[in-house]
Amino acid sequence: MRKLILAAASVAVLAMVAPAAAQQPIVIKFSHVTAPNTPKGLAADKFKELAEKYTEGKVKVEVYPNSQLYKDKEELDALQLGAVQMLAPSISKFGPAGVKEFEVFDLPYILPDIAALRKVTNGPVGAKLFKLLDAKGMTGLAYWDNGFKIMSANKKLIAPDDYKGLKFRIQSSKVLDAQFRSLGAIPQVMAFSEVYQALQTGVVDGQENTPSNMYTQKMHEVQKYTTVTNHGYIGYAVIVNKKFWDGVPAELRTQLDKAMAEATEYGNSQSQKENDEALEEMKKSGKTEIITLTAEQNAAMRKAMAPVYDEVGNRVGKALIEEFLKESGGGPAK
Ligand code: LMR
Repeated sequence: MRKLILAAASVAVLAMVAPAAAQQPIVIKFSHVTAPNTPKGLAADKFKELAEKYTEGKVKVEVYPNSQLYKDKEELDALQLGAVQMLAPSISKFGPAGVKEFEVFDLPYILPDIAALRKVTNGPVGAKLFKLLDAKGMTGLAYWDNGFKIMSANKKLIAPDDYKGLKFRIQSSKVLDAQFRSLGAIPQVMAFSEVYQALQTGVVDGQENTPSNMYTQKMHEVQKYTTVTNHGYIGYAVIVNKKFWDGVPAELRTQLDKAMAEATEYGNSQSQKENDEALEEMKKSGKTEIITLTAEQNAAMRKAMAPVYDEVGNRVGKALIEEFLKESGGGPAK
């Protein structure tokens, strides 16, 4: 795959040189893994629309959804090599690219709600995390929401014990690995585009995701039970290849920043609705039973996952976790 990405990257470099001479538009290839009708898909399409409008066609944005170009890990390689210019990977996928601090967002129950999330991403923690991207050849432009995660399996998941021995697909985050191990489950890293089939064929027993991701990938059709746990959050860091971005003429970059700010506001205003509707559609389909936990059942889950904070302290950074907790007001069960 790396060979293919490198080949695409050299074509991209040629394409970057050519436009100046021929007065052709600058092309931003924006690759992502979810469906167009998801929070990320909607925001990406809005950015395309506004970027092309504000730059009067001097910038062209090509959006490639649904892992059409690259899967999870490949897309980060592709961005760093310059084969694509823009991505919005889930924050839980930056560990393999060498920015493991982003995994702080994956700590169970660290974010009580979206207001807390916004405080973190708009504050010093959000800025500090973006700064870490520089050294990896990437520039962070915005934080986009998806929403809170729910659990699913072919078995009813109510008490922590119900997770014991089951295999769960996870994104490539060591914090998520620790989270499922704290429940006695067996985590398995897998690309998003492979989850449906893995659930269908029994390669894994269950998974965690947002309702919009579950529904648009049809996961609910192959999972008998879905439990609304809201134990964690999925959101995105919109990133660009730093070299490419620094090379965009300043006046165009100002227009692109404006387009990004508006697309972010739009996407983040739609995400809750997208997730609520997806959960409703899943319910209506009758294919998966939606389970809601009582306050006591929720508390038991929270308690079971509490040890994760200490386990990953050294990896993610104890000071960062403390700083995050201060802003978010969430945290492990006391
Ligand atoms: C996942 O891999 O489950 C999600 O991060 C996919 C996405 O980009 O929302």
